[in-house]
Amino acid sequence: MYSKNLMIKMDSLYKSFGKIKALNNLNLEIKKGELLGIIGPNGAGKTTAIRITSCILKPDSGDILVDGNSIHQEPIKIKSMIGYLPEEPNLYERFKARDLLNYFAELYGVPSNEIDGRIEELLELVGMSSRAEDRINTFSKGLRQRIGIARALIHDPQILIFDEPTMGLDPATSNNIREFIRKLKGDKTIILCTHYMDEADLLCDRVAIMNQGEIIDMGTPEDLKSKIHGEIILNLKLESIDPPAALKIKEFSTVEAVDTDGNQYIISLNSKDEIKSILDVFHGKILSVNTKEPTLDDVFINSIKT
Ligand SMILES: Nc1ncnc2c1ncn2[C@@H]1O[C@H](COP(=O)(O)OP(=O)(O)OP(=O)(O)O)[C@@H](O)[C@H]1O
Ligand SMILES: [Mg+2]
Repeated sequence: MYSKNLMIKMDSLYKSFGKIKALNNLNLEIKKGELLGIIGPNGAGKTTAIRITSCILKPDSGDILVDGNSIHQEPIKIKSMIGYLPEEPNLYERFKARDLLNYFAELYGVPSNEIDGRIEELLELVGMSSRAEDRINTFSKGLRQRIGIARALIHDPQILIFDEPTMGLDPATSNNIREFIRKLKGDKTIILCTHYMDEADLLCDRVAIMNQGEIIDMGTPEDLKSKIHGEIILNLKLESIDPPAALKIKEFSTVEAVDTDGNQYIISLNSKDEIKSILDVFHGKILSVNTKEPTLDDVFINSIKT
């Protein structure tokens, strides 16, 4: 069944390169207007999956339907629907930024009376208006990435696929790009491959965890984080450890585990409900308190090792 609010449906995808099974029965559905993150270790098959979606690579078997169109039957139509930022954008080095965008606008059939306006708008969006007449080979990594993003957007596609858009960029540029992706949210359907868990947490409606060519877990960042054992970690630094008090708090129903590290207790809790009562038990001896909630880093590490 192909539901109307589905934009991309990856169905039983297999792809091998020689002996390497890059995709091993990959199934994934992305709704219209959704921002889906794909995370997973190096070599998990993320780039292979999105190259197949972008009709740059063919699977050995399986299909992808993009708004109901099969990659096997309608690759040209699908290409026109997708803007793709590759891991390493292959930009024509000797082109000036503006000429490169013009070239791709013509290639994608943007109406000629709209091209100039669209280029200005995109250069402005990615903060590159002042570099429009400079050649690509004079740009730093971050500036190239910005032009790569403008190129991906030139034909105003419904779907955007970003493969590690902030890889190797300085924190300020990364934040600009994240903010920019966030603004596209809702209007476009977006796939974001990233190794930055805070980026996935910040931007994605749902996150798929990929390993060895298949999806091993999937959910909203909150769902995934709440699956981690111990919803919250409470760190208590005391003047000196207090074994009778530690024994007492082990009886609390929300306490999963109690570890010591010097004069510090590290207490795993499955909810915040009893924190106040726990602090009361150590009353008068506490030097400092802090709590840490699980992050997507914990989710990632946990799911890859199981
Ligand atoms: N063109 C190719 N020729 C040979 N092997 C390939 C090719 N493309 C990908 N592979 C192999 O397929 C596997 C999946 O690669 P892929 O690039 O999809 O991983 P990835 O999840 O994007 O990893 P990374 O996080 O490092 O970008 C890897 O083992 C990779 O070496
Ligand atoms: Mg990759």
